[in-house]
Amino acid sequence: MVNRLAVNLCGIPMQNPLVPASGSFGFGLELADTLDLNLLGGISLKGTTREARFGNPTPRIAECTAGMINSVGLQNPGIEVLVSEKAPALRRIYRGVIIANISGYSVEEYAFNCGRADACPDIDLLEVNISCPNVHGGGMAFGTEPKLAAAVTRAVKEVTEKPVFIKLSPNVTDIVSIAKACEDAGADGITLVNTFLGMRIDIARRQPVIANKMGGFSGAAIFPIALRMVYQVAHACRIPVMGCGGVQRAEDVIEMMMAGATAVQVGAENLRNPMACPEMLEALPELMDRLGIKCLQDIIGVV
Ligand code: FUM
Repeated sequence: MVNRLAVNLCGIPMQNPLVPASGSFGFGLELADTLDLNLLGGISLKGTTREARFGNPTPRIAECTAGMINSVGLQNPGIEVLVSEKAPALRRIYRGVIIANISGYSVEEYAFNCGRADACPDIDLLEVNISCPNVHGGGMAFGTEPKLAAAVTRAVKEVTEKPVFIKLSPNVTDIVSIAKACEDAGADGITLVNTFLGMRIDIARRQPVIANKMGGFSGAAIFPIALRMVYQVAHACRIPVMGCGGVQRAEDVIEMMMAGATAVQVGAENLRNPMACPEMLEALPELMDRLGIKCLQDIIGVV
């Protein structure tokens, strides 16, 4: 029987397009007792740096209308733990696409981390995170300037045979110029968007809510902006896009795919409702029937 939800992401078959976004799902293992991980098309793991990181001081989270701000600061156990413990442990219980989200503070660090991830047979795809707004001197600094984005892309492509997606920041005026720079430098795909730089103030304390003052805003409120950027990049580039930003419902998945996304990541909504992805997957077939959609692959970029 044909799987109507199946998609093909640059040669990688996925049973469905849904992927918990990096930072919203740990290393997958943490959620294994809560839901059947094997329902998910892919899992993007927590952003990983060369050295282990404790992350930013607390408070790191601020609630907002229709969203949240986080300033986790890339808390992670480091690349060696990812490749020797986390990814192999996830592979033992999960058959879908394992995506390593790779961060760094220099072009050399991105290349080193991707080289280590390349050697790990349990990782299927590298998502290079040049868009974290919560660290100084790395992350987003590489994702707001086309030449730097291209330099990271070229360096990581030299050290890996695995497909490389570059995860872009929405905190730019011209997202297409950055995406095209990555494509020209050899990227196999683009993930967009990461979070928007935001801030809240505790008016009683007269202090920022977040210890680091600012953080990345995500959730339902950003969906229309993320969708616009997915549309722009998908129509300007030939490489596939993983759409991300404010996805909450099966309808949002369809909308992202019509805008041009081949796969769809779910971030903040996982924190509100860990069952968000299984619930969307359950709702999709009936919604597709109502909209006259035979297969999800058919609607990618139809708008
Ligand atoms: O602060 C963080 O760990 C967020 C990472 C990201 O947005 O990529």
